Amino acid sequence: MSSMLMRRALLGLTTKRGLATAAGEAPRIKSFKIYRWNPDKPTEKPHLQEYKVDLNECGPMVLDALLKIKNEQDATLTFRRSCREGICGSCAMNIGGANTLACLCKIDQDHTKQLKIYPLPHMFIVKDLVPDLTGFYQQYKSIQPWLQRTSYPEDGKEVLQSIEDRKKLDGLYECILCACCSTSCPSYWWNQEEYLGPAVLMQAYRWLIDSRDQSAKFRREMLQNSMSLYRCHTIMNCTRTCPKGLNPGQSIAEIKKQLAFD
Ligand code: SF4
Ligand code: SF4
Ligand code: FES
Repeated sequence: MSSMLMRRALLGLTTKRGLATAAGEAPRIKSFKIYRWNPDKPTEKPHLQEYKVDLNECGPMVLDALLKIKNEQDATLTFRRSCREGICGSCAMNIGGANTLACLCKIDQDHTKQLKIYPLPHMFIVKDLVPDLTGFYQQYKSIQPWLQRTSYPEDGKEVLQSIEDRKKLDGLYECILCACCSTSCPSYWWNQEEYLGPAVLMQAYRWLIDSRDQSAKFRREMLQNSMSLYRCHTIMNCTRTCPKGLNPGQSIAEIKKQLAFD
């Protein structure tokens, strides 16, 4: 018997089956309650389904637990994921009451506390934890998120940007369009058809201040109405929830400042 197991036996740290598991640890079973809804069973209401996972046999992140449940307990559980490192933005969901990325969210190792997982709030649901982001992407497209110029360098080479001007894009270009911020915003919940929401507005700002872009006037005009921008009431849920540590609330404030001087 290894010295570690011997010590655990002496301390009485044994399971019903004798000594603790091969890893020397008693199971730490945590309850995950996960939102389920299946469009193929329209008579069944959405509900929370409980799954139990031994944290000793699970990776540290919530995405690890979801994958373990899907692989070992219930293949019908549906969620999006791709990169598992906070780059693709597809695993955004509401975990323990906050919008975040499942792959960047650590599991609370207190196994006596259950964890509830819902899809991003106030969105139509495709299935289980998968929200319908069609409207969100249409809004992103509406701000024309590409470089626009009417004149080009005479030498036919690329449009240059100074180091200082490039720095202005820091904190903006890193957005992965996960929609955590927009779906945490009460104004977006109630006016999703017309209010662009923090994620899209931050990208609108990213193009407004790009020194290489020549469409700033047109971009500002697109926002100069009562709904697209001014539904933001500076509640700041957006900035608080961003899993990438960005500040969409500040970008919105900067756009409002620019528009005030038009
Ligand atoms: S600002 Fe943050 S929360 Fe919002 S879409 Fe971008 S990365 Fe996600
Ligand atoms: S600051 Fe504006 S965009 Fe951000 S949560 Fe509040 S109302 Fe929504
Ligand atoms: S899986 Fe890509 S951000 Fe989480």
